[in-house]
Amino acid sequence: MTEPLVVAIDGPAGSGKSTVARAVAARLGLEVLDTGSMYRAVTSLAIRAGVDPHDTDKVTILAREADLGVGERVTAGGVDLTDTLRTDAVNDTVSVVASIPAVRRELVERQRAWVAEHGGGVVEGRDIGSVVFPRAAVKVYLTASHTERARRRGEEAPESVARRDLLDGGRTVSPLVVASDAHVLDTTDRAIDDVVEEILSWL
Ligand code: DC
Repeated sequence: MTEPLVVAIDGPAGSGKSTVARAVAARLGLEVLDTGSMYRAVTSLAIRAGVDPHDTDKVTILAREADLGVGERVTAGGVDLTDTLRTDAVNDTVSVVASIPAVRRELVERQRAWVAEHGGGVVEGRDIGSVVFPRAAVKVYLTASHTERARRRGEEAPESVARRDLLDGGRTVSPLVVASDAHVLDTTDRAIDDVVEEILSWL
């Protein structure tokens, strides 16, 4: 059996992952899985339930029991969480939730199941090429200058983005790293079409 086609797109906040992932997926006729939205959804659920994000046991139970639906809208048990995912409360807490090993194990399993169900996909995150799909057909690691990343993040304060970068890059489990066989692409002064063409040329 041939393996489903997976394009792994990793990189820090504001590196252009979502835009690039959507454009590459459209060209290949694949769907996009935004794994950051899954970590954000669990964080949002913890906040709603009044669970301390540092309480690893409780957050893990929430993650295991969450009936997550990820797509254009992100839902849990029918409740639409989409509008809560980019609030300051979630931005400030998501790195804590994403550093819990059992939460990562749970979400990684779901990410693999999603790809199996969808027959492949463009998957964006932080550890996709390094941990989730080490055999992805193409691994892309996007970067951009600090100024450009802050500009793209718009409403989110640069300090908040910098803090998440530090936590995401420094955690012990699946830190943000460049997979050894990833193509590193700086998107700072590049047109989106140009970036997409380059990625497609690697397939
Ligand atoms: O891509 P994003 O900014 O929506 O990600 C939100 C947070 O989730 C970010 O702090 C890093 C974390 N994350 C992760 O640890 N692993 C992933 N595969 C995706 C996101």
